[in-house]
Amino acid sequence: MPNTQFEIVALKSGIKSLRLIENNETFHPGIGPLAEANILHVDQHDFAARAEELKARGESFVLWDVGLGAAANVVAAIEAFKSIDADFEIHSFDRSLSALEFALEHTEDLDYLIPYREDCLRFLKDGYLELTPRIRWYLHVGDFRETMHLDIPAPHSIFYDPYSPRGNVDMWNLENFTAVRKRLDPNRPCLISNYTRSTYVRVTWLLAGLNVGVGTSIGEKEETSLASNSLELLKNPLKPAFLVRVKISHSSAPLRGPVFKVGVITPEDYAAVAALPQFHQDT
Ligand SMILES: C[S@@+](CC[C@H](N)C(=O)[O-])C[C@H]1O[C@@H](n2cnc3c(N)ncnc32)[C@H](O)[C@@H]1O
Repeated sequence: MPNTQFEIVALKSGIKSLRLIENNETFHPGIGPLAEANILHVDQHDFAARAEELKARGESFVLWDVGLGAAANVVAAIEAFKSIDADFEIHSFDRSLSALEFALEHTEDLDYLIPYREDCLRFLKDGYLELTPRIRWYLHVGDFRETMHLDIPAPHSIFYDPYSPRGNVDMWNLENFTAVRKRLDPNRPCLISNYTRSTYVRVTWLLAGLNVGVGTSIGEKEETSLASNSLELLKNPLKPAFLVRVKISHSSAPLRGPVFKVGVITPEDYAAVAALPQFHQDT
């Protein structure tokens, strides 16, 4: 049966990507799949230096690829890992494989998949692939809110890439991020990257117990966001000036529950955010 959920669209740059027809959401809408995956995710995670430290202790670097989608983010990670002499374990999560199946039928428009076509087909069939003796790739199909609790090592990095909050609020609410934060190993610093710069997402992350920082600019977007269970992993943590924005913004309330709703933050939530240690550093 033909896949009617997605279509191929040309971005402003002429590069092609996928669009989910139902909610009109384009994957990697700014500068295209591989360029965005590299700038937003791969480059910010400093894999070489962090994996080198783990190698000295005989440990593998663990990446969670949340929202496998059409595999652009994970392909960018695999390319980076191939040039690093260390062990990597990738865990890709998705509730549906239809984006990747569609993309594999359209590799003439999605060049980043051409060298990985056979690997992806095998990965989809077996749910696991040893890409090289040093890079192992695991597939977890199902709702991430459940599959994150499988017996899988806690991550050092998360590429967090579900659909945007309006249409995918369960992946963005405080309940989910509190569970994600609890699922991290407090002794294993983990960096989480995402395209958002929304105040309400940053507030939701903060209230879930994560530290939050400003992430790279990308395309026409001046900044994105990073979160971590370790303040030291954030090169540019949000400073107290962010609290002013939280106070005056009309969309700074954290997301709670199954309905997407933005609004003004309550005094209780504001006080909880303002009291967080990241806003009380000496420097
Ligand atoms: C924007 S796409 C991801 C794009 C992908 N990272 C790439 O590089 O092509 C979002 C993906 O998140 C998945 N997703 C959304 N909600 C989910 C959930 N609750 N559990 C697991 N996957 C989910 C969707 O099925 C979709 O494939």
